[in-house]
Amino acid sequence: VKTIRVNLKDRSYNIYTGTGIINKLTDLLDTIQNLNQIALISTPPVADLYLNTILSLLNKYQNIKHYLVPDGEKSKSLKQAEEIYTWLIQNNFDRNSLIIGLGGGVVGDLSGFIAATFLRGVRLVHIPTTLLAQLDSSIGGKVGVNHALGKNLIGAFYQPQFVISDVNFLQTLKDEEFICGMGEVVKYALIRDPELYSLIDSNFDSLSKHNSELMEKIVSICANHKAEIVSEDELERGIRAILNFGHTFGHALESFYQYDKIKHGQAVLLGMICAVFVSQKLDFIDSEIASKIIAFIEKYNIHLPGKLSDSDVKKIVSLMQYDKKIKNGKLNFILIRDIGKVIEHTSSDVDLIIEAFKKLKSAKSKLK
Ligand SMILES: NC(=O)c1ccc[n+]([C@@H]2O[C@H](COP(=O)([O-])OP(=O)(O)OC[C@H]3O[C@@H](n4cnc5c(N)ncnc54)[C@H](O)[C@@H]3O)[C@@H](O)[C@H]2O)c1
Ligand SMILES: [Zn+2]
Repeated sequence: VKTIRVNLKDRSYNIYTGTGIINKLTDLLDTIQNLNQIALISTPPVADLYLNTILSLLNKYQNIKHYLVPDGEKSKSLKQAEEIYTWLIQNNFDRNSLIIGLGGGVVGDLSGFIAATFLRGVRLVHIPTTLLAQLDSSIGGKVGVNHALGKNLIGAFYQPQFVISDVNFLQTLKDEEFICGMGEVVKYALIRDPELYSLIDSNFDSLSKHNSELMEKIVSICANHKAEIVSEDELERGIRAILNFGHTFGHALESFYQYDKIKHGQAVLLGMICAVFVSQKLDFIDSEIASKIIAFIEKYNIHLPGKLSDSDVKKIVSLMQYDKKIKNGKLNFILIRDIGKVIEHTSSDVDLIIEAFKKLKSAKSKLK
């Protein structure tokens, strides 16, 4: 077991990563005081694979109930949250309850939001089961749901008691979901880890085969990056913003496709292509390195769901205005200077942003 610490004073906690470590769950829960009831939240595809294992690990707890939400981003909604509150109230869950989120980022963000708000806050444990959740969404306390006008607009910072990331869960992940997680791995590499960049660049093939030793290494490297950044800047007043690299563009794409036709990690990969393009246009990065990075991202073979018309692109750009990363009416971007080096930049150059999204069209046709 590798233990990674998130240092946040009285809200500090550990992330446990490794292969086969889910067996430690009971020992870890034993460290939580006054634990009366457990509400396990998951979703059918994950429950089919792992619910029985988890429930049998937890069989010494009398008061454990589970709730399954429909699979997919649409479950990150106030409506879904309200249904869970009703279930918790009807089942007499009290302030000494624990919410466990078992699943990917959707289940984690939603469970965390419930834990942060139900009875003004009950305790939370994350058991992330996707690559993206293990190295990103389960760490750092961002919890929340989506609003029709934008992603993650309703939420809180709410830290868990601990996170347990068993790399074995990743064996059942679909390729597509695996690539989504790789989107965040690429992000960590580009914002602050040239060594990680070389590692994933030179192991592209064995990574696509989900080589488990390599996965264990990557999950712990990335979880460590996230833990360090969050420990420095929990509330995103400063350095934590670099984690939004590719995300301002990506969120607008996700929103345009109504969180349906494109997944978060795919949108982030495309968003990073836009960010590198803009960085190069603004002369922050050498064009040769920029092309190298774009070619590297394109290896993941991400396509836009359809051809974008001029009016689609305008719509996408207007959706960016709803992103939280807005400062004095100008858009705030994380741009790149070199592999492992980023810079914050505010811009209102709409034409350049339009050009960046249009670049994605040509990226797609090039792949065809
Ligand atoms: N809180 C944060 O800091 C943060 C950071 C990044 C992303 N996010 C959020 O995370 C969400 C995306 O998370 P995600 O990519 O994990 O998507 P997801 O939760 O929808 O999971 C992807 C798919 O994989 C399935 N699945 C999960 N674990 C599995 C397993 N072990 N084997 C087989 N199938 C499995 C799920 O049922 C789902 O169909 C987005 O809503 C995004 O906004 C949050
Ligand atoms: Zn992300």
